Amino acid sequence: MAKQFIKVSPTTPAFSKDSVFVVAVVEKSGKLELHSGSIDVSSLKGLDLQKIGARAGNDAVLRVPGPNGSVFALIGGLGDAGLERLRYFGGTVGRTVNDFKQVVVGLPIANDAEAGALLEGYAIGHYNYIEYKSEAKRAPAQTLVLSTKHKVKPATLGRVEVLRAAVHDTRDLVSMPANDLYPQSFAAAASRLAKGANVTVTVLDEKKLAAGGFGGLIGVGKGSARPPRLVKVEYKPAGAKKKIALVGKGITYDTGGLSLKPAASMLGMKYDMTGAATVLNAVLAIARLKLKVHATAYLCLAENMPSGTATRPGDVVKARNGKTIEVTNTDAEGRVVLADGLSLASESYPDYIIDVATLTGAQRVALGTRYAGIMGDDATVAKLAEAIKSAGEFAWPMPLAEDLRPLIDGQIADLQNAKVGNTAGGMIIGGLFLREFVGKKKGSSQSIDWAHLDIAGPADNEGAGYGFIPKGATGSYVRSLVNFAEAVIK
Ligand code: BES
Ligand code: ZN
Ligand code: ZN
Repeated sequence: MAKQFIKVSPTTPAFSKDSVFVVAVVEKSGKLELHSGSIDVSSLKGLDLQKIGARAGNDAVLRVPGPNGSVFALIGGLGDAGLERLRYFGGTVGRTVNDFKQVVVGLPIANDAEAGALLEGYAIGHYNYIEYKSEAKRAPAQTLVLSTKHKVKPATLGRVEVLRAAVHDTRDLVSMPANDLYPQSFAAAASRLAKGANVTVTVLDEKKLAAGGFGGLIGVGKGSARPPRLVKVEYKPAGAKKKIALVGKGITYDTGGLSLKPAASMLGMKYDMTGAATVLNAVLAIARLKLKVHATAYLCLAENMPSGTATRPGDVVKARNGKTIEVTNTDAEGRVVLADGLSLASESYPDYIIDVATLTGAQRVALGTRYAGIMGDDATVAKLAEAIKSAGEFAWPMPLAEDLRPLIDGQIADLQNAKVGNTAGGMIIGGLFLREFVGKKKGSSQSIDWAHLDIAGPADNEGAGYGFIPKGATGSYVRSLVNFAEAVIK
């Protein structure tokens, strides 16, 4: 990824070559206006903004010459500002004008929240993935100068950097092809990323998994030459007020297994580990921000391959909590590895369990590629939905419709992982299956507070970039989970 620096300055840099000056295009009662704050745009006076093609809508970017060889970027999407709009606008800046060494923003900033939103958008939007390009056309290191009289707190800038790293590291992991990212190398990457964060990383290899009764991970990983792993990343600060467990689906490649996917649906399935990358980086961010939350990520890592050693449709595996699963469709593998992850997470009685998974094609059919589906108990779903909203991300609650539950009753085992020949309510059936592996609260018959986030759609952006989201891996919901952790200790 391209290097970036952020500087807050009470003065405005002089116009010069290699510098781009950001000017917001805003529509007021049908007419376009320029909002530039501390940047002098007198050289643009008299231009017919409409005629030169300036637009006020999201992601509109028009470059026009500025004084002394500089460039003005006339950017839409700011609207009437507000935190949400500032973050999105900052994202468009970071994503689009990355061929300059210096970007200057002079918009009026009233407080730290506004500065944080704008800078967060910029920082996470300024990203590209070129690790596998032989012709290195890396964008230059870039400095964003936020020209404002407001003094931004170091903690605000620190938070921006923590969130940037977490989102970028998530995207990097998701974008890495499956010939390089597999359970063992993912576990190594987790340890590497955890360096310097106050966390403990524990890796269970295939021997420990077999001995520990993790029949789901073993069953899904069995067809691959590259054995499964369960990675636990634990942040346990003194004085923690609450305990949360984040469980992630980490299928480093999903061929479907013996229930093989058709070619077109298989392509792109390297991204089936997005849930694991998301929870890993969320916990690392929570640790780096020193939140008073005991937070543990459980990464359920396996490669789903067909082979002579693969699980056959109809085989029965036993999950960590003792429940038996008839694997009627080896392509419904995410829920099978999560069964182990949820069971293990439940053993330490957290206050909340959130699982994150690219679980079902049905999620994309139902909600498209911007909204994730949330299922679980009403209170936890509402809490998570609120945290997602405040991160400027999108999700929508779905019911755990009880009438669908009998569809996954096992014929010879406790449960089956899919109802063959039934596609109706696929996202919900996934949620109902996972619910079976959420344990009870300590000494109680009540289930641990839990929500399931199905991100099959929004994990990947197949279309053009927008706001702070690039094409490809989005890194979405990492910041939402950090917000969730903050919300539970409020
Ligand atoms: N990784 C897929 C989910 C998926 C499918 C994500 C398409 C994005 C696009 C998951 O493992 C899967 O294949 N699920 C099956 C479940 C079915 C067999 C019950 C699906 O959704 O078709
Ligand atoms: Zn699958
Ligand atoms: Zn999958």
